Amino acid sequence: MNLQLTEDGRLRHLLTLDGLPRAIIMQILDTAESFMDVGEREVKKVPLLRGKSIFNLFFEPSTRTRTTFEIAAKRLSADVVNLNIATSSQTKGEAILDTVDNLAAMHADMFIVRHSQSGAAHFIAQHVAPHISVVNAGDGRHAHPTQGLLDMFTIRRYKGEFHNLTVAIVGDVLHSRVARSQIHALTTLGVPEVRVIGPKTLLPTGVEQMGVKVFHDMEDGLAGCDVVIMLRLQNERMKGARLPSAQEYFKFFGLTPEKLALAKPDAIVMHPGPMNRGVEIASEVADGPQSVILPQVTYGIAVRMAVMAMLAGTGNA
Ligand code: CP
Repeated sequence: MNLQLTEDGRLRHLLTLDGLPRAIIMQILDTAESFMDVGEREVKKVPLLRGKSIFNLFFEPSTRTRTTFEIAAKRLSADVVNLNIATSSQTKGEAILDTVDNLAAMHADMFIVRHSQSGAAHFIAQHVAPHISVVNAGDGRHAHPTQGLLDMFTIRRYKGEFHNLTVAIVGDVLHSRVARSQIHALTTLGVPEVRVIGPKTLLPTGVEQMGVKVFHDMEDGLAGCDVVIMLRLQNERMKGARLPSAQEYFKFFGLTPEKLALAKPDAIVMHPGPMNRGVEIASEVADGPQSVILPQVTYGIAVRMAVMAMLAGTGNA
């Protein structure tokens, strides 16, 4: 059963980009484009979700995702509740589905869920009443679909098309839910060459089966790239030592101006955040003219507005 789509093919939940039809991804990107000017207006609001209650359930830390979901929901005129997990009854041993049931009893319309366990959002989506939608805001190392979508939005804004691009994803792909969502979206949108670059210890076994080319050194991997996406070392998900040291990692896989010069001169540099300067990326690159890292964050608002508006079955700005 496809939990994400209704019988007539509309978005019901957003849990993963794996298998999400191209037409839905394009509809999200186009709807997001129509919301871009809302942030520039004097009154930064449209009434599409007036009267709806959206609950942010973040069981893991977040700066960008939680905040931009809140801003996006408010710009759609929804009522937003940020459950503080650290001071919630989760600390008294309440089961996650009991928490969800209690919030549903407060007339929730949508849950935005981040959790360290892969499959948590899916688990909640299977449980909720038919009028409630669930958005996966990052589950374990499985998926981060709205990050993948805002990354596609960013690439389309700077590069226009997908069909002529070479995109490199660099670093800790093994532990990265963002990389998985990006790879699914890039291949669905027809990017002809998606590369992953990293040490053997940080690339998943059999990653080629996702339709990517594997590189173990930056010189070969970055050559001719249009888009370079850097990933953080996900130390919180690593079991045992996978790297000699952060300094050693930076020497071989950190993006410096010299290494970036191997990509096309107009290549853009992306990073989902949070960044570790001097580990996966040099400050000169992060703050340099080819970086689109902060625009990614801004675009995340419009993309999350689009996802929530489509889940609620409402139209454009
Ligand atoms: N990109 C991302 O998920 O960032 P946060 O962890 O700050 O939400």
